[in-house]
Amino acid sequence: MKLQKLLFIFIILFNCKSQPEIGLITEKAMVVSARKEASKIGSEILKKGGNAFDAMAATELALAVAYPYAGNLGGGGFMVYRKNDGEIGALDYREKAPLSSTKDMFLDSLGNVIKGKSTLGAMAVGVPGTIAGVFESHKRFGSLPIEEILQPVIELAKKGVIVTDKQQKRLEKHTPNFRKANKKTILLDNNWKKGDTIKYLSLAETLTRIQKNGRDEFYKGETAKVLAKFLQDNGGIITEEDLAKYEAKWRTPVVFNYDDLKIISMAPPSSGGVCLSQIMNGIETFNLEQYEHNSTKYIQIITEAERRAYADRSYYLGDPDFVSIPLKELTSKEYSQERMKNFSFENPTSSNSISHGSIDFVESNETTHYSIVDQFGNAVSVTTTINGAYGSKLYCPELGFFLNNEMDDFSSKPGTPNMFGLIGAEANKIEPEKRMLSSMTPTIVEKNGKLFMVVGTPGGSTIITSVLQTILNVHEFDMGMQEAVNKPRFHHQWLPDDIKMEPNGFDTKVKKQLQALGYKLDETNSPVIGKVDAILVLPNGKLEGGADHRGDDTAIGF
Ligand code: DON
Repeated sequence: MKLQKLLFIFIILFNCKSQPEIGLITEKAMVVSARKEASKIGSEILKKGGNAFDAMAATELALAVAYPYAGNLGGGGFMVYRKNDGEIGALDYREKAPLSSTKDMFLDSLGNVIKGKSTLGAMAVGVPGTIAGVFESHKRFGSLPIEEILQPVIELAKKGVIVTDKQQKRLEKHTPNFRKANKKTILLDNNWKKGDTIKYLSLAETLTRIQKNGRDEFYKGETAKVLAKFLQDNGGIITEEDLAKYEAKWRTPVVFNYDDLKIISMAPPSSGGVCLSQIMNGIETFNLEQYEHNSTKYIQIITEAERRAYADRSYYLGDPDFVSIPLKELTSKEYSQERMKNFSFENPTSSNSISHGSIDFVESNETTHYSIVDQFGNAVSVTTTINGAYGSKLYCPELGFFLNNEMDDFSSKPGTPNMFGLIGAEANKIEPEKRMLSSMTPTIVEKNGKLFMVVGTPGGSTIITSVLQTILNVHEFDMGMQEAVNKPRFHHQWLPDDIKMEPNGFDTKVKKQLQALGYKLDETNSPVIGKVDAILVLPNGKLEGGADHRGDDTAIGF
């Protein structure tokens, strides 16, 4: 009888569509990433005695193999870290505009944006930063030899990776664009089905050369020569000089307090930390815990703070090496609280009516984020990207990887939205060697001076607001990590003036109330908002992973 009952419960649980609300719990260490193969390799590096920075190198490159949709050698990213002694910092390995790029390179003779030029093919490619980032982080903080770290990644590429259901669907969707961007059929254009194994043999060779010759193999060696020639043969402008000049840069993270939390997030050239601080400063005095989660008033407060922050993003933010950003003013509590003073629950503010085009929000999760806590208490939070799904769709067969289309993150023309509907201005115009503005928001949260959470996500412009809601879900509503990640999310970015809502995730009454107040809702064409991978330190010191069920994301640790 007892057995029957257990069986019954098991069947119910097995058939139940809802996602588990408690994530993996481990004693000491954890890696949460978009693919189990990458989390496993990262976690095994930790088990061998490596630290979070060793695991960063392993996970980043394993994602380039196992998750070519966004994991990359041909893109860039940002890392925020917190060491076990409390030291914090940030590494910027964002792509750069090529030396011969110009402000108007994506405009026609009439000054209009040429559709597709900044998103598809070789002109869309920014100078990749990933290998520089991995080696820079490892040089400063790594403990295991890089050869040892790369070995399991190379083995994975040779052995191959099994196609998942979600991957099959993505490949089917993007194959027409692979054909548009590439002269020859590429490895991923082979009608791959769920359960097939794809071997990444050219990538394994590239990684083996990097393993042997180090960072300069990518920027000055054979790989650099092949890459520059390949891009130019395909109509691009990146030269060997561009690659040779690339450097990753250490940045000072954006740090601010929210209640008893200390938030450490990415500085420009990402808008992530600045925008997150503006939103959180704007909402802090509203004492959100008094409202029900995702209720009308809760959504209103957050929407209004987001609207104001994103309007500033557009105007003020760009590469700090090129433009001066009033960082202190933008991130001050007084500034954002003052900006919220004209908000009332009865009358939504209207974003002013700058025209905006229709936005293709369909490609929604092409960046990737991973969170790591090691057995020594060090934490890293990394978001890495080739921008769109499979980047520019341009794949270098000899080297075995896709190239980014990050040039689209610049403002091609003031007032014209990019693929995320973000409207840029002068501060983010294209200039040689400049880094394009990003929304990536790798973040670490401290509570009472101790590590509390490691969090981040892909999602283009929705990254900042997904990170925000994940932190609020835990802090204001006492959710665990997995539960916080599971909850439906919404997003407002000033323009277009609507609230994007995850389909079927919100209460009908709440939606009606918001509409009656004058808010426009966009559920029909909304993306799944973000794919958050996060780690929470529980009160007993154990770790809980939050791996987003919206993808194949997995937490692994010990
Ligand atoms: O840096 C950025 O903000 C974008 N390139 C991120 C792109 C992204 O998250 C794609 N996924 N939706």
